[in-house]
Amino acid sequence: MQITFDDQVAIVTGAGEGIGFEIARQLALYGAKVVLNDVDKDKARTAKEQIEAEGGICIDRAGDAGSLDDIQGMVDTAVNAFGRLDIAIANAGITSYGGFFDFDQKRFQQLLHVNLQGSFFLAQKAALQIRRQGSTGSILLTSSVTGQQAHHNLAAYGMTKAAIDMLTKTLVPELAAHRIRINAIAPGATLTGRTLQLDKNFEGLWNAATPMGKTATTSDIAQAAIFLSSSMAGHITGQTLTIDGGFTALCVDPSVYQKR
Ligand SMILES: NC(=O)c1ccc[n+]([C@@H]2O[C@H](COP(=O)([O-])OP(=O)(O)OC[C@H]3O[C@@H](n4cnc5c(N)ncnc54)[C@H](O)[C@@H]3O)[C@@H](O)[C@H]2O)c1
Repeated sequence: MQITFDDQVAIVTGAGEGIGFEIARQLALYGAKVVLNDVDKDKARTAKEQIEAEGGICIDRAGDAGSLDDIQGMVDTAVNAFGRLDIAIANAGITSYGGFFDFDQKRFQQLLHVNLQGSFFLAQKAALQIRRQGSTGSILLTSSVTGQQAHHNLAAYGMTKAAIDMLTKTLVPELAAHRIRINAIAPGATLTGRTLQLDKNFEGLWNAATPMGKTATTSDIAQAAIFLSSSMAGHITGQTLTIDGGFTALCVDPSVYQKR
C-alpha cells in the first residue's frame, strides 16, 4: 500500500520554513493540494514557489496562525480554491526561552496565542468544514518532547505542549463521531534555520545526547506527519507520536547529580 494524498486538500500553518515547510512540501509531492500559511508574507511566497518548482500544487496564505480571522481565511482559501478540506496541520509554534522568575506576561500571552489558540481553533474550524462535507478528515497538532519532560528555561513553552497532548485526547470523542481523526507529533531537537541560529553547536550537542546518534532533520519529522495524516493511519486517533531518536526513553544518568 502506497501513501497518496491525491484529491485531498491540506492546510499547514507556520510553513514558510523549518518543519512546517517540509511537511507542506512532502504533502504536495504525495499529491495533496496545499494551503501554506506563514505570518511572514515573503517566506510564505518563497515556500509556495519552491513547492511549485518541484511540481506540487500550493497556495500561499499569509497570516497569523493564532488569529481566528486568519484561521477562517485559510479554511475559506482551501474551499474556494480547491473545493474542500481534508487535512489540517497546526505546525506554527513559538519557542520562547526564559527563566521562570523573569518570564513576563506579554511573552506568556504570545505563547498561548500561537501555540494553544492557534491549535485549538484550527482544529475547530477545520473540523467544522470537514463535518459540513460529511467526509473523513485528519487533524494533526504539533507538540514537543518539552511537553513530556522538564527542559531548562522552557516552562511556559513546555506547558503549552503538554496541553496540546491533552487536547489531542480530549477531542477524540467529539471528532470520532464525524470520522475525523486527531493526532499530534512531538519532535525532539530538530535541525532548522532557527535552531542552528540559536546555538552554533546545536547539532553536535544533540547528536551526542540522542541514543540514535543524530539530531532529527525536518524530513524525519515530516515523514511521521505524513504517516499520521494518511489513510495508513486510518485507525489511529488521540495519539502523540514522539520523534526524538530515543531521547525521552532515557532517564538522567545519576552520575550527573554527583558532579553538581
Ligand atoms: N525545531 C525543533 O527543534 C522543534 C522541536 C520540538 C517541537 N517543535 C515544534 O515544531 C513546530 C515547528 O518548529 P520549527 O522549529 O520548524 O519552527 P520555526 O521557529 O523555524 O518557525 C517556522 C515558521 O513559523 C512561522 N511563524 C511564527 N509565528 C507564526 C504565526 N503566529 N503564524 C504563522 N506562522 C508563524 C515563522 O515565520 C517561520 O517561518 C513548532 O510548533 C515547534 O514548537 C520544534
